[in-house]
Amino acid sequence: MRLTRYFLPVLKETPSEAKIVSHRLMLRAGMIKQSAAGIYSWLPLGFKVLRKLENIVHEEQQRAGHIPMLMPTLQSADLWKESGRYDAYGPEMLRIRDRHDRDILYGPTNEELITDIFRSYVGSYKDLPKTLYHIQWKFRDEVRPRFGVMRGREFLMKDGYNFDIDREAAMHAYNRHLVTYLRTYERMGLKAIPMRADSGPIGGEDTHEFLVLADTGESEVFYDAAITDLALGDREVDFDSVEQCRDIFDEFTTHYARTDETHDPAVFDAVPQERRRTARGIEVGQIFYFGTKYSEAMNARVQGPDGKPVPVHMGSHGIGVSRLLGAIIEASHDDKGIIWPEGVTPFHVGIVNLKQGDAEADAACEAIYASVTAVGLDALYDDRNERAGGKFARMDLIGLPWRITVGPRGLANGVVELTNRRTGESEELPPEEAVKKLHGIYTGHRTTQHVEMMGKRAFHTYI
Ligand SMILES: Nc1ncnc2c1ncn2[C@@H]1O[C@H](COP(=O)(O)OP(=O)(O)OP(=O)(O)O)[C@@H](O)[C@H]1O
Ligand SMILES: [Mg+2]
Repeated sequence: MRLTRYFLPVLKETPSEAKIVSHRLMLRAGMIKQSAAGIYSWLPLGFKVLRKLENIVHEEQQRAGHIPMLMPTLQSADLWKESGRYDAYGPEMLRIRDRHDRDILYGPTNEELITDIFRSYVGSYKDLPKTLYHIQWKFRDEVRPRFGVMRGREFLMKDGYNFDIDREAAMHAYNRHLVTYLRTYERMGLKAIPMRADSGPIGGEDTHEFLVLADTGESEVFYDAAITDLALGDREVDFDSVEQCRDIFDEFTTHYARTDETHDPAVFDAVPQERRRTARGIEVGQIFYFGTKYSEAMNARVQGPDGKPVPVHMGSHGIGVSRLLGAIIEASHDDKGIIWPEGVTPFHVGIVNLKQGDAEADAACEAIYASVTAVGLDALYDDRNERAGGKFARMDLIGLPWRITVGPRGLANGVVELTNRRTGESEELPPEEAVKKLHGIYTGHRTTQHVEMMGKRAFHTYI
Protein backbone atom coordinates (compact mmCIF):
# COMPACT_ATOMS: atom_id res chain seq x y z
CA MET A 1 0.00 0.00 0.00
CA ARG A 2 1.23 3.45 -0.89
CA LEU A 3 0.34 6.10 1.63
CA THR A 4 -0.74 8.58 -1.08
CA ARG A 5 -3.41 6.09 -2.16
CA TYR A 6 -4.43 4.92 1.31
CA PHE A 7 -7.08 6.32 3.63
CA LEU A 8 -5.32 7.13 6.87
CA PRO A 9 -6.97 10.16 8.50
CA VAL A 10 -4.40 10.85 11.22
CA LEU A 11 -5.41 13.51 13.76
CA LYS A 12 -2.97 16.15 14.97
CA GLU A 13 -4.88 17.03 18.11
CA THR A 14 -5.66 14.57 20.84
CA PRO A 15 -9.45 14.22 20.99
CA SER A 16 -10.61 15.43 24.38
CA GLU A 17 -13.32 12.80 24.82
CA ALA A 18 -10.76 10.00 24.96
CA LYS A 19 -9.83 9.21 28.54
CA ILE A 20 -7.41 6.35 28.07
CA VAL A 21 -4.36 5.93 25.89
CA SER A 22 -5.69 3.18 23.62
CA HIS A 23 -8.77 5.20 22.75
CA ARG A 24 -6.67 8.31 22.10
CA LEU A 25 -4.22 6.44 19.91
CA MET A 26 -6.92 4.64 17.92
CA LEU A 27 -8.57 7.96 17.14
CA ARG A 28 -5.30 9.74 16.38
CA ALA A 29 -4.05 6.92 14.16
CA GLY A 30 -7.24 7.04 12.12
CA MET A 31 -8.38 3.53 13.06
CA ILE A 32 -11.93 4.20 14.21
CA LYS A 33 -14.55 6.92 14.08
CA GLN A 34 -17.42 7.13 16.48
CA SER A 35 -20.81 6.94 14.82
CA ALA A 36 -22.98 7.07 17.96
CA ALA A 37 -22.21 6.46 21.63
CA GLY A 38 -20.39 3.13 21.82
CA ILE A 39 -20.77 2.48 18.09
CA TYR A 40 -17.82 2.83 15.72
CA SER A 41 -16.89 2.73 12.09
CA TRP A 42 -13.73 0.76 11.51
CA LEU A 43 -11.53 2.83 9.24
CA PRO A 44 -9.10 0.94 7.00
CA LEU A 45 -6.18 0.71 9.45
CA GLY A 46 -8.38 -0.38 12.35
CA PHE A 47 -10.26 -2.79 10.14
CA LYS A 48 -7.00 -4.40 9.04
CA VAL A 49 -6.00 -5.16 12.64
CA LEU A 50 -9.50 -6.35 13.48
CA ARG A 51 -9.30 -8.82 10.58
CA LYS A 52 -5.91 -10.05 11.79
CA LEU A 53 -7.31 -10.73 15.22
CA GLU A 54 -10.25 -12.56 13.68
CA ASN A 55 -7.87 -14.67 11.61
CA ILE A 56 -5.90 -15.72 14.66
CA VAL A 57 -9.11 -16.61 16.45
CA HIS A 58 -10.31 -18.67 13.47
CA GLU A 59 -7.01 -20.52 13.16
CA GLU A 60 -6.82 -21.40 16.82
CA GLN A 61 -10.44 -22.50 17.02
CA GLN A 62 -10.13 -24.66 13.95
CA ARG A 63 -6.86 -26.13 15.18
CA ALA A 64 -8.87 -27.50 18.10
CA GLY A 65 -11.58 -28.91 15.79
CA HIS A 66 -14.20 -26.25 16.44
CA ILE A 67 -16.53 -25.52 13.53
CA PRO A 68 -17.09 -22.00 12.13
CA MET A 69 -20.51 -20.75 11.10
CA LEU A 70 -22.46 -17.49 11.17
CA MET A 71 -25.63 -16.60 13.01
CA PRO A 72 -27.50 -13.32 12.44
CA THR A 73 -27.22 -10.22 14.61
CA LEU A 74 -31.01 -9.97 14.90
CA GLN A 75 -32.88 -12.68 16.75
CA SER A 76 -36.50 -13.48 17.41
CA ALA A 77 -37.61 -12.82 20.99
CA ASP A 78 -39.47 -16.16 21.05
CA LEU A 79 -36.38 -18.24 21.77
CA TRP A 80 -35.42 -15.93 24.63
CA LYS A 81 -38.90 -16.26 26.09
CA GLU A 82 -38.45 -20.03 25.94
CA SER A 83 -35.20 -19.92 27.92
CA GLY A 84 -36.63 -17.39 30.35
CA ARG A 85 -33.96 -14.81 29.63
CA TYR A 86 -36.10 -12.35 27.67
CA ASP A 87 -37.30 -10.67 30.82
CA ALA A 88 -34.26 -11.51 32.92
CA TYR A 89 -31.73 -9.83 30.62
CA GLY A 90 -32.82 -6.31 31.44
CA PRO A 91 -32.18 -2.96 29.73
CA GLU A 92 -28.86 -4.04 28.21
CA MET A 93 -30.83 -5.88 25.56
CA LEU A 94 -31.81 -3.78 22.56
CA ARG A 95 -35.40 -4.73 21.85
CA ILE A 96 -36.93 -3.88 18.50
CA ARG A 97 -40.42 -4.30 17.07
CA ASP A 98 -40.74 -5.00 13.37
CA ARG A 99 -43.54 -3.77 11.05
CA HIS A 100 -45.65 -6.82 11.86
CA ASP A 101 -45.42 -6.05 15.57
CA ARG A 102 -43.11 -8.96 16.23
CA ASP A 103 -40.53 -8.69 18.98
CA ILE A 104 -36.98 -9.03 17.81
CA LEU A 105 -33.69 -8.13 19.45
CA TYR A 106 -30.10 -7.39 18.56
CA GLY A 107 -28.30 -10.37 20.06
CA PRO A 108 -26.15 -9.71 23.12
CA THR A 109 -25.05 -13.39 22.99
CA ASN A 110 -26.27 -16.55 21.23
CA GLU A 111 -26.97 -19.43 23.63
CA GLU A 112 -30.65 -19.62 22.67
CA LEU A 113 -30.14 -19.39 18.92
CA ILE A 114 -27.44 -22.05 18.83
CA THR A 115 -29.41 -24.37 21.11
CA ASP A 116 -32.33 -24.07 18.74
CA ILE A 117 -30.13 -24.89 15.75
CA PHE A 118 -28.66 -27.84 17.57
CA ARG A 119 -31.99 -29.33 18.67
CA SER A 120 -33.40 -28.96 15.16
CA TYR A 121 -30.84 -31.32 13.67
CA VAL A 122 -29.05 -33.43 16.24
CA GLY A 123 -30.82 -36.40 17.79
CA SER A 124 -28.23 -38.93 18.84
CA TYR A 125 -25.27 -39.16 21.19
CA LYS A 126 -23.38 -40.54 18.18
CA ASP A 127 -23.29 -37.05 16.69
CA LEU A 128 -21.50 -35.66 19.75
CA PRO A 129 -19.26 -33.98 20.66
CA LYS A 130 -19.67 -30.79 18.63
CA THR A 131 -18.37 -27.28 19.12
CA LEU A 132 -19.73 -24.56 16.87
CA TYR A 133 -18.61 -20.96 16.90
CA HIS A 134 -18.93 -17.71 15.03
CA ILE A 135 -17.46 -14.23 15.06
CA GLN A 136 -20.33 -11.79 14.95
CA TRP A 137 -21.35 -8.33 16.13
CA LYS A 138 -23.17 -8.13 19.42
CA PHE A 139 -25.15 -5.31 20.94
CA ARG A 140 -25.41 -4.53 24.62
CA ASP A 141 -26.95 -1.25 25.57
CA GLU A 142 -24.29 -0.48 28.17
CA VAL A 143 -25.23 2.31 30.57
CA ARG A 144 -21.85 3.91 30.21
CA PRO A 145 -20.14 3.04 26.94
CA ARG A 146 -16.59 4.31 27.28
CA PHE A 147 -12.93 3.82 26.52
CA GLY A 148 -13.60 3.52 22.80
CA VAL A 149 -13.85 -0.07 21.58
CA MET A 150 -13.11 -1.42 25.05
CA ARG A 151 -16.65 -0.90 26.24
CA GLY A 152 -18.73 -0.35 23.17
CA ARG A 153 -22.41 -0.97 22.70
CA GLU A 154 -21.89 -2.70 19.38
CA PHE A 155 -18.83 -4.93 19.54
CA LEU A 156 -17.35 -7.94 17.80
CA MET A 157 -17.25 -11.19 19.71
CA LYS A 158 -16.17 -14.70 18.99
CA ASP A 159 -18.65 -16.93 20.72
CA GLY A 160 -18.50 -20.69 20.69
CA TYR A 161 -20.79 -23.35 22.10
CA ASN A 162 -20.00 -26.95 22.94
CA PHE A 163 -22.51 -29.81 23.01
CA ASP A 164 -21.49 -32.90 24.91
CA ILE A 165 -23.11 -36.05 26.24
CA ASP A 166 -22.18 -35.57 29.89
CA ARG A 167 -20.36 -33.38 32.36
CA GLU A 168 -17.04 -35.12 31.89
CA ALA A 169 -17.04 -34.61 28.12
CA ALA A 170 -18.15 -31.00 28.55
CA MET A 171 -15.29 -30.38 30.98
CA HIS A 172 -12.88 -31.58 28.31
CA ALA A 173 -14.42 -28.96 26.01
CA TYR A 174 -13.94 -26.39 28.78
CA ASN A 175 -10.27 -27.27 29.23
CA ARG A 176 -9.74 -27.40 25.48
CA HIS A 177 -11.13 -23.89 25.16
CA LEU A 178 -8.84 -22.66 27.89
CA VAL A 179 -5.88 -23.97 25.89
CA THR A 180 -7.08 -22.42 22.62
CA TYR A 181 -7.57 -19.09 24.36
CA LEU A 182 -4.08 -19.15 25.86
CA ARG A 183 -2.64 -19.76 22.39
CA THR A 184 -4.81 -17.09 20.83
CA TYR A 185 -3.74 -14.36 23.24
CA GLU A 186 -0.09 -15.34 23.13
CA ARG A 187 -0.11 -15.08 19.34
CA MET A 188 -1.49 -11.56 19.76
CA GLY A 189 1.50 -10.69 21.92
CA LEU A 190 -0.61 -10.57 25.08
CA LYS A 191 -0.33 -12.12 28.49
CA ALA A 192 -3.91 -12.92 29.48
CA ILE A 193 -4.32 -14.64 32.82
CA PRO A 194 -7.19 -17.07 33.38
CA MET A 195 -8.95 -16.17 36.62
CA ARG A 196 -11.80 -17.78 38.52
CA ALA A 197 -14.82 -15.58 37.94
CA ASP A 198 -18.53 -15.19 38.40
CA SER A 199 -20.92 -16.38 35.69
CA GLY A 200 -23.34 -13.42 35.59
CA PRO A 201 -26.39 -13.62 33.30
CA ILE A 202 -24.95 -16.53 31.26
CA GLY A 203 -25.35 -18.75 34.31
CA GLY A 204 -23.55 -21.93 35.32
CA GLU A 205 -20.98 -23.21 37.75
CA ASP A 206 -17.54 -23.18 36.20
CA THR A 207 -16.20 -20.07 34.62
CA HIS A 208 -12.86 -18.40 34.02
CA GLU A 209 -12.20 -14.95 32.69
CA PHE A 210 -9.01 -14.04 30.84
CA LEU A 211 -7.51 -10.78 32.00
CA VAL A 212 -4.81 -8.59 30.55
CA LEU A 213 -3.15 -6.61 33.31
CA ALA A 214 -3.43 -2.85 32.75
CA ASP A 215 -3.95 0.12 35.04
CA THR A 216 -6.93 1.19 32.98
CA GLY A 217 -8.66 -2.19 33.37
CA GLU A 218 -12.16 -2.15 34.79
CA SER A 219 -11.78 -5.28 36.93
CA GLU A 220 -9.92 -5.55 40.19
CA VAL A 221 -7.86 -8.74 40.27
CA PHE A 222 -5.88 -10.67 42.85
CA TYR A 223 -3.21 -13.17 41.88
CA ASP A 224 -0.09 -15.04 42.74
CA ALA A 225 2.82 -13.46 40.80
CA ALA A 226 4.05 -16.95 39.90
CA ILE A 227 1.27 -17.18 37.33
CA THR A 228 2.82 -14.44 35.20
CA ASP A 229 5.83 -16.71 34.49
CA LEU A 230 3.67 -19.29 32.74
CA ALA A 231 3.49 -19.49 28.97
CA LEU A 232 2.07 -22.06 26.62
CA GLY A 233 4.71 -21.25 24.00
CA ASP A 234 5.11 -23.48 20.99
CA ARG A 235 4.30 -26.78 22.64
CA GLU A 236 2.39 -29.29 20.56
CA VAL A 237 -1.10 -29.83 21.85
CA ASP A 238 -3.29 -32.80 21.01
CA PHE A 239 -6.73 -31.29 21.50
CA ASP A 240 -8.33 -34.74 21.60
CA SER A 241 -6.21 -35.67 24.59
CA VAL A 242 -8.30 -35.28 27.73
CA GLU A 243 -5.19 -35.67 29.91
CA GLN A 244 -3.07 -33.11 28.09
CA CYS A 245 -5.79 -30.46 28.08
CA ARG A 246 -6.51 -31.13 31.75
CA ASP A 247 -2.81 -30.89 32.63
CA ILE A 248 -2.55 -27.54 30.90
CA PHE A 249 -5.74 -26.39 32.61
CA ASP A 250 -4.26 -27.40 35.98
CA GLU A 251 -0.94 -25.74 35.21
CA PHE A 252 -2.63 -22.42 34.46
CA THR A 253 -5.31 -22.43 37.14
CA THR A 254 -3.60 -23.84 40.22
CA HIS A 255 -2.00 -20.57 41.30
CA TYR A 256 -4.35 -18.12 42.96
CA ALA A 257 -5.90 -15.77 40.38
CA ARG A 258 -9.37 -14.34 40.88
CA THR A 259 -11.46 -11.33 40.03
CA ASP A 260 -13.06 -9.30 42.81
CA GLU A 261 -16.31 -11.25 42.38
CA THR A 262 -14.77 -14.51 43.56
CA HIS A 263 -11.86 -13.15 45.59
CA ASP A 264 -11.42 -14.93 48.91
CA PRO A 265 -9.01 -13.07 51.23
CA ALA A 266 -8.53 -16.12 53.44
CA VAL A 267 -7.29 -18.24 50.53
CA PHE A 268 -5.27 -15.34 49.11
CA ASP A 269 -3.47 -14.96 52.43
CA ALA A 270 -2.03 -18.44 51.98
CA VAL A 271 0.00 -17.17 49.00
CA PRO A 272 3.51 -16.13 50.13
CA GLN A 273 3.34 -12.43 50.79
CA GLU A 274 6.05 -11.42 48.32
CA ARG A 275 4.04 -13.04 45.51
CA ARG A 276 0.63 -11.55 46.36
CA ARG A 277 -0.50 -9.01 43.78
CA THR A 278 -3.53 -6.77 43.55
CA ALA A 279 -3.95 -5.08 40.20
CA ARG A 280 -6.38 -4.07 37.51
CA GLY A 281 -7.22 -6.07 34.43
CA ILE A 282 -9.08 -5.92 31.12
CA GLU A 283 -11.39 -8.87 30.51
CA VAL A 284 -10.64 -10.16 27.01
CA GLY A 285 -12.50 -13.45 27.19
CA GLN A 286 -14.52 -15.83 29.31
CA ILE A 287 -15.35 -19.53 29.24
CA PHE A 288 -18.36 -21.16 30.87
CA TYR A 289 -19.61 -24.61 31.65
CA PHE A 290 -23.31 -24.38 32.42
CA GLY A 291 -24.41 -27.99 32.10
CA THR A 292 -28.01 -28.48 31.08
CA LYS A 293 -29.32 -24.99 31.87
CA TYR A 294 -30.31 -24.20 28.27
CA SER A 295 -30.83 -27.75 27.02
CA GLU A 296 -33.39 -28.42 29.78
CA ALA A 297 -35.18 -25.12 29.28
CA MET A 298 -35.25 -25.50 25.51
CA ASN A 299 -35.59 -29.26 25.29
CA ALA A 300 -32.33 -29.96 23.48
CA ARG A 301 -32.00 -33.70 24.03
CA VAL A 302 -30.24 -36.52 22.27
CA GLN A 303 -30.79 -40.22 22.48
CA GLY A 304 -28.17 -41.69 24.82
CA PRO A 305 -26.44 -45.08 24.35
CA ASP A 306 -29.25 -46.76 26.28
CA GLY A 307 -31.90 -45.28 23.99
CA LYS A 308 -33.18 -42.80 26.55
CA PRO A 309 -33.25 -39.07 25.75
CA VAL A 310 -30.79 -36.99 27.76
CA PRO A 311 -30.31 -33.21 27.81
CA VAL A 312 -26.95 -32.21 26.34
CA HIS A 313 -24.27 -30.61 28.48
CA MET A 314 -23.17 -27.27 27.19
CA GLY A 315 -20.72 -24.46 27.67
CA SER A 316 -20.11 -21.16 25.94
CA HIS A 317 -16.89 -19.36 25.29
CA GLY A 318 -16.37 -15.75 24.30
CA ILE A 319 -13.51 -13.60 23.09
CA GLY A 320 -13.91 -9.83 22.87
CA VAL A 321 -12.34 -9.41 19.45
CA SER A 322 -12.90 -5.66 19.09
CA ARG A 323 -12.02 -5.00 22.75
CA LEU A 324 -8.72 -6.77 22.13
CA LEU A 325 -7.51 -3.91 19.92
CA GLY A 326 -7.76 -1.58 22.88
CA ALA A 327 -6.21 -4.14 25.23
CA ILE A 328 -3.24 -4.71 22.92
CA ILE A 329 -2.60 -0.98 22.65
CA GLU A 330 -2.94 -0.50 26.42
CA ALA A 331 -0.29 -3.19 26.83
CA SER A 332 1.98 -2.05 24.00
CA HIS A 333 2.62 1.64 23.31
CA ASP A 334 5.00 4.45 24.22
CA ASP A 335 4.77 8.23 24.20
CA LYS A 336 5.12 8.30 20.40
CA GLY A 337 2.28 5.93 19.67
CA ILE A 338 1.26 2.33 19.22
CA ILE A 339 3.74 -0.54 19.06
CA TRP A 340 2.04 -3.46 17.33
CA PRO A 341 3.16 -6.96 18.25
CA GLU A 342 4.37 -8.68 15.07
CA GLY A 343 1.49 -11.15 15.08
CA VAL A 344 -1.21 -8.51 14.66
CA THR A 345 0.43 -5.55 12.95
CA PRO A 346 -1.64 -3.99 10.15
CA PHE A 347 1.46 -3.80 7.91
CA HIS A 348 4.65 -5.74 8.53
CA VAL A 349 6.92 -2.86 7.59
CA GLY A 350 6.82 0.83 6.80
CA ILE A 351 9.02 2.18 4.03
CA VAL A 352 10.07 5.79 4.43
CA ASN A 353 11.50 7.63 1.46
CA LEU A 354 13.62 10.52 2.77
CA LYS A 355 13.77 12.26 -0.59
CA GLN A 356 10.65 11.71 -2.62
CA GLY A 357 11.26 12.72 -6.22
CA ASP A 358 14.92 11.76 -6.16
CA ALA A 359 15.14 9.22 -8.97
CA GLU A 360 17.49 6.90 -7.15
CA ALA A 361 15.63 7.00 -3.81
CA ASP A 362 12.28 6.47 -5.55
CA ALA A 363 13.62 3.52 -7.53
CA ALA A 364 15.15 1.94 -4.42
CA CYS A 365 11.87 2.28 -2.53
CA GLU A 366 9.92 0.74 -5.39
CA ALA A 367 12.37 -2.16 -5.56
CA ILE A 368 12.14 -2.76 -1.79
CA TYR A 369 8.37 -2.50 -1.91
CA ALA A 370 8.29 -5.11 -4.67
CA SER A 371 10.60 -7.55 -2.90
CA VAL A 372 8.83 -7.18 0.47
CA THR A 373 5.56 -7.96 -1.30
CA ALA A 374 7.15 -10.86 -3.17
CA VAL A 375 8.05 -12.62 0.11
CA GLY A 376 4.43 -12.36 1.24
CA LEU A 377 4.77 -9.38 3.56
CA ASP A 378 2.63 -6.32 3.62
CA ALA A 379 4.36 -2.93 3.32
CA LEU A 380 3.10 0.60 3.82
CA TYR A 381 5.21 2.91 1.69
CA ASP A 382 5.20 6.57 2.73
CA ASP A 383 5.59 8.08 -0.74
CA ARG A 384 4.36 11.55 0.22
CA ASN A 385 6.36 14.62 -0.53
CA GLU A 386 6.87 15.41 3.15
CA ARG A 387 9.70 16.12 5.53
CA ALA A 388 11.42 13.17 7.15
CA GLY A 389 10.32 14.22 10.65
CA GLY A 390 6.65 14.11 9.74
CA LYS A 391 7.04 10.74 8.07
CA PHE A 392 8.81 9.24 11.10
CA ALA A 393 6.21 10.66 13.49
CA ARG A 394 3.40 9.09 11.50
CA MET A 395 5.10 5.69 11.32
CA ASP A 396 5.74 5.84 15.07
CA LEU A 397 2.12 6.78 15.76
CA ILE A 398 0.62 3.93 13.73
CA GLY A 399 3.12 1.58 15.32
CA LEU A 400 4.46 -0.72 12.59
CA PRO A 401 7.09 -2.93 14.26
CA TRP A 402 9.72 -2.36 11.53
CA ARG A 403 10.68 0.54 9.32
CA ILE A 404 13.01 0.70 6.33
CA THR A 405 14.38 4.18 5.74
CA VAL A 406 15.73 4.99 2.32
CA GLY A 407 17.74 8.15 1.52
CA PRO A 408 20.32 9.34 -0.96
CA ARG A 409 23.12 9.36 1.60
CA GLY A 410 22.67 5.70 2.53
CA LEU A 411 22.14 4.67 -1.05
CA ALA A 412 25.47 6.22 -1.99
CA ASN A 413 27.00 3.61 0.34
CA GLY A 414 24.64 0.90 -0.88
CA VAL A 415 22.64 0.75 2.38
CA VAL A 416 19.24 1.48 3.86
CA GLU A 417 18.27 1.59 7.52
CA LEU A 418 16.18 -1.07 9.24
CA THR A 419 14.65 0.21 12.50
CA ASN A 420 12.84 -1.61 15.26
CA ARG A 421 9.88 0.38 16.58
CA ARG A 422 10.00 -1.08 20.07
CA THR A 423 13.71 -0.68 20.82
CA GLY A 424 14.43 2.19 18.45
CA GLU A 425 17.57 0.31 17.33
CA SER A 426 18.67 0.77 13.73
CA GLU A 427 20.92 -1.19 11.47
CA GLU A 428 22.38 -0.24 8.10
CA LEU A 429 22.09 -2.95 5.49
CA PRO A 430 22.02 -3.37 1.73
CA PRO A 431 18.35 -3.29 0.65
CA GLU A 432 18.20 -7.01 -0.24
CA GLU A 433 19.65 -7.89 3.17
CA ALA A 434 17.08 -5.76 4.94
CA VAL A 435 14.24 -7.55 3.16
CA LYS A 436 15.81 -10.92 3.85
CA LYS A 437 16.14 -10.08 7.52
CA LEU A 438 12.53 -8.97 7.72
CA HIS A 439 11.38 -12.12 6.03
CA GLY A 440 13.41 -14.13 8.52
CA ILE A 441 11.89 -12.27 11.46
CA TYR A 442 8.34 -12.92 10.35
CA THR A 443 9.09 -16.48 9.29
CA GLY A 444 10.65 -17.27 12.64
CA HIS A 445 7.62 -15.84 14.34
CA ARG A 446 4.79 -18.15 15.27
CA THR A 447 2.45 -16.38 12.90
CA THR A 448 4.38 -17.67 9.89
CA GLN A 449 1.53 -19.79 8.73
CA HIS A 450 -0.73 -16.86 9.13
CA VAL A 451 1.58 -14.48 7.30
CA GLU A 452 1.90 -16.89 4.40
CA MET A 453 -1.80 -17.43 4.24
CA MET A 454 -2.38 -13.71 4.26
CA GLY A 455 0.04 -13.33 1.37
CA LYS A 456 -1.70 -15.84 -0.81
CA ARG A 457 -5.30 -16.08 0.16
CA ALA A 458 -8.14 -13.80 0.99
CA PHE A 459 -9.54 -13.86 4.50
CA HIS A 460 -12.71 -15.77 3.80
CA THR A 461 -11.04 -18.64 2.01
CA TYR A 462 -9.83 -20.34 5.13
CA ILE A 463 -12.90 -20.27 7.24
N1 LIG B 1 -19.44 -3.75 25.94
C1 LIG B 1 -18.43 -4.46 25.45
N2 LIG B 1 -17.57 -3.91 24.55
C2 LIG B 1 -16.55 -4.64 24.05
N3 LIG B 1 -16.32 -5.91 24.37
C3 LIG B 1 -17.13 -6.51 25.25
C4 LIG B 1 -18.23 -5.82 25.83
N4 LIG B 1 -18.89 -6.67 26.67
C5 LIG B 1 -18.21 -7.83 26.60
N5 LIG B 1 -17.17 -7.75 25.76
C6 LIG B 1 -16.19 -8.81 25.44
O1 LIG B 1 -16.86 -10.03 25.13
C7 LIG B 1 -16.34 -11.08 25.93
C8 LIG B 1 -17.37 -12.14 26.21
O2 LIG B 1 -18.57 -11.58 26.73
P1 LIG B 1 -19.09 -11.76 28.25
O3 LIG B 1 -20.53 -12.08 28.18
O4 LIG B 1 -18.19 -12.61 29.04
O5 LIG B 1 -18.91 -10.21 28.68
P2 LIG B 1 -19.08 -9.55 30.14
O6 LIG B 1 -18.52 -10.47 31.16
O7 LIG B 1 -20.47 -9.08 30.29
O8 LIG B 1 -18.10 -8.31 29.95
P3 LIG B 1 -17.95 -7.09 30.99
O9 LIG B 1 -17.89 -7.71 32.36
O10 LIG B 1 -16.69 -6.41 30.58
O11 LIG B 1 -19.18 -6.26 30.77
C9 LIG B 1 -15.84 -10.38 27.18
O12 LIG B 1 -14.84 -11.14 27.80
C10 LIG B 1 -15.30 -9.08 26.62
O13 LIG B 1 -13.97 -9.26 26.18
MG1 LIG C 1 -17.44 -11.96 30.90
